[in-house]
Amino acid sequence: MNGIKNWCAVFALAITTLFAGAAAGAQSGSPALFPWMSTTLSPDERAGLVLKELTLDEKILLIHGQGSPFGGTNPNAYLSNGGDGFSLGIPRLGIPTLQMIGSAYGVRFSAVNGRYSTALPSNLASTASWDPEAACEYGSMIGREERAQGYNMSLAGGVNLARELRNGRNFEYHGEDPLLAGTIVGHRVRCEQEQHIIGELKHYAVNDQESGRNLVDSIIGVRAMRETDLLAFEIGNNIGHPGAVMCSYNAVNGDYACENKYLLSDVLKKDWNFKGFVLSDWGGTHSTVKASGAGLDMEQPNDKYYGAAMKKAVLDGKVSAAEFDDHVRRILRTEFASGIIDFPIRKGVVNAENGLLIARRQAEKSTVLLKNEHGLLPLDRAKVRSIAIIGSHADEGMISGGGSAQVDPQGSFVSPVRQKDIHKDAVWFPTSPLKAIAAIAPGTQVRFASGDDPAAAAALAKESQVAIVFAYQWTHEAYDLPNLSLPEKQDELIERVAAANANTIVVLETGTAVTMPWADRVSGILEAWYAGSKGADAVANILFGRINPSAKLPITFPVSEADLPHPQLVGPSAEAKAPGAEMRTGVARPTFSVHYNEGLKVGYKWFDAENKPVLFPFGFGLSYTTYSYSDLKMRPGGQTGDGATAVSFRVKNTGSRAGVEIAQVYASLPASAGEPPQRLVGWSRVALEPSESRQVTVTVDSKLLSVFDEDTNSWKLIPGRYTFRVGSSSRNLALTADLTLQ
Ligand code: BGC
Repeated sequence: MNGIKNWCAVFALAITTLFAGAAAGAQSGSPALFPWMSTTLSPDERAGLVLKELTLDEKILLIHGQGSPFGGTNPNAYLSNGGDGFSLGIPRLGIPTLQMIGSAYGVRFSAVNGRYSTALPSNLASTASWDPEAACEYGSMIGREERAQGYNMSLAGGVNLARELRNGRNFEYHGEDPLLAGTIVGHRVRCEQEQHIIGELKHYAVNDQESGRNLVDSIIGVRAMRETDLLAFEIGNNIGHPGAVMCSYNAVNGDYACENKYLLSDVLKKDWNFKGFVLSDWGGTHSTVKASGAGLDMEQPNDKYYGAAMKKAVLDGKVSAAEFDDHVRRILRTEFASGIIDFPIRKGVVNAENGLLIARRQAEKSTVLLKNEHGLLPLDRAKVRSIAIIGSHADEGMISGGGSAQVDPQGSFVSPVRQKDIHKDAVWFPTSPLKAIAAIAPGTQVRFASGDDPAAAAALAKESQVAIVFAYQWTHEAYDLPNLSLPEKQDELIERVAAANANTIVVLETGTAVTMPWADRVSGILEAWYAGSKGADAVANILFGRINPSAKLPITFPVSEADLPHPQLVGPSAEAKAPGAEMRTGVARPTFSVHYNEGLKVGYKWFDAENKPVLFPFGFGLSYTTYSYSDLKMRPGGQTGDGATAVSFRVKNTGSRAGVEIAQVYASLPASAGEPPQRLVGWSRVALEPSESRQVTVTVDSKLLSVFDEDTNSWKLIPGRYTFRVGSSSRNLALTADLTLQ
């Protein structure tokens, strides 16, 4: 008996040494034990070497999940790190387990695992910065916190376009414009992956509403899809080179996204040369042979179709060896390319202080000043004697976005996600606007009214010099808003307060656009979105002018839902909505369709084409200083040597404060192109001291001026006259020049 024990101990030691050797060997470049650990080989070569060593069962293991780490009967649950899902590795070959974690705006599931995560402002908020460098900082911070908490794969990078403003997940996405959305998500993923994390784009594709998300067939023309929803993914892929793309729950033009050959193989893998792997959204796999043939590489979170069923399909020749191996090769390649093998997970202590610093900086860059009458803002703390803070639990915190993106707030004993129903209960982060404002203005009397009693709130506002109403709109996964009104009679509260105090400022905490029937009767409006762990400090810094706001809207704020392409949201039947119907893995079938007839006209392109007035246009945002635009000069594509058109103009800070202007360039295509009136083709963030001016050049790649030609399956520049417009928002474009392009 003792002999056996000793033998086991020796064996265990040998195994440990083997892996230690493998890891160390990889990092020192000495592939003593495993040739694929040589970092001098390409990820493709390394993946190819491992592939040759794998048995059929081992290959199967790599292409599916192991169920939920929490609960359930999965015997492997103890091998999970407590995230959203995991796929086992092949220890004998040094291939690690994939530990996956939802991380849209911060690392999920920290409370239940006894950890801490920083919540950054929502993804939509970060897009309002229009700042690729900020997006990089965003991704890096999340990547570091993922690694410290023991994860090597991120479930994030949502880039569905805000085609439907009531979509409950718009806060996880990057707005309505494909260039802006793709650029911001691309830089986020790029920098997250630099931390040796497998990054992801999701939910591919046209998963633009949550209502009936497992049952809906999104019907959309190919050209429209390529120039809108898919273009955002394409740009994100080009910039970020994500290791993974998650296919979505819905069907697109008749086939589920996770078994849609056009989306997965023809476009993603062939046209875009995507080198990573495709994994299904949780329970979004619906078949073995069809899904495999279409290009789905990994089933998550279970193995219903990619476990024993896949093994049988391979043995029966229904899935070819080459096709099957390609799934495995893509997963292995991604593991090498991302560095998760060369830099194995080493848990650490999250740098909370640094995270909170970044959270504040991100929020300051994301908060949009929408209205500022008579220069009420910034508040002068030497002059403001009393402030009423009203509503939205502003004494305690600020709201966050729910669903699988939910980050647990610091100080929670039990994860609110497990204590509450993330689809029913909102989570407020302990970042208190009341405290932040009181701290920044110590000589000012700052008092709070919850807003539950509008009369009491109005009375407090009347007694105060300034009233600041905090108003929220909570959104989350698996649910769409019935309309864009603020819930809980907050419109009424704002009206009452505004009637009592002319110096009323509204601070919005929203996941998407809201209607504002009171907009004309308040003096200031600040859109803070879901502002993250340090939202209150950022809001206070902007209100009191420590920070000059620079953010601009990444979505249009309409006057009313009646102006939307779909005034009514199209939802599933009552039967389809029955409990459980939505999550029956692989069982659900598309039962209703949403026809995206507006096609190319997403967001501002719709409102422009339909000549509809808007409440606040795409690209809009005020500053505490003012800017002027002049000296537009054009240099047509071809002369720059790279086919790009150069648009050059001067921006001047005409006010008395330093600031950053997000100068935007839009193009109108020749009429024969059949496009909406204009599209964003570039922008520049210009930092200017008072009176300073700068000549700025924005280069516009010819693809951004092209249309997608279905006949040739390619992008085409239509010869003719192009009009370029430059200015501060999609509806304030002071400079115009025409250019003929061949
Ligand atoms: C969501 C995904 C998420 C997954 C794992 C699904 O319900 O749609 O975005 O990554 O759950 O939590």
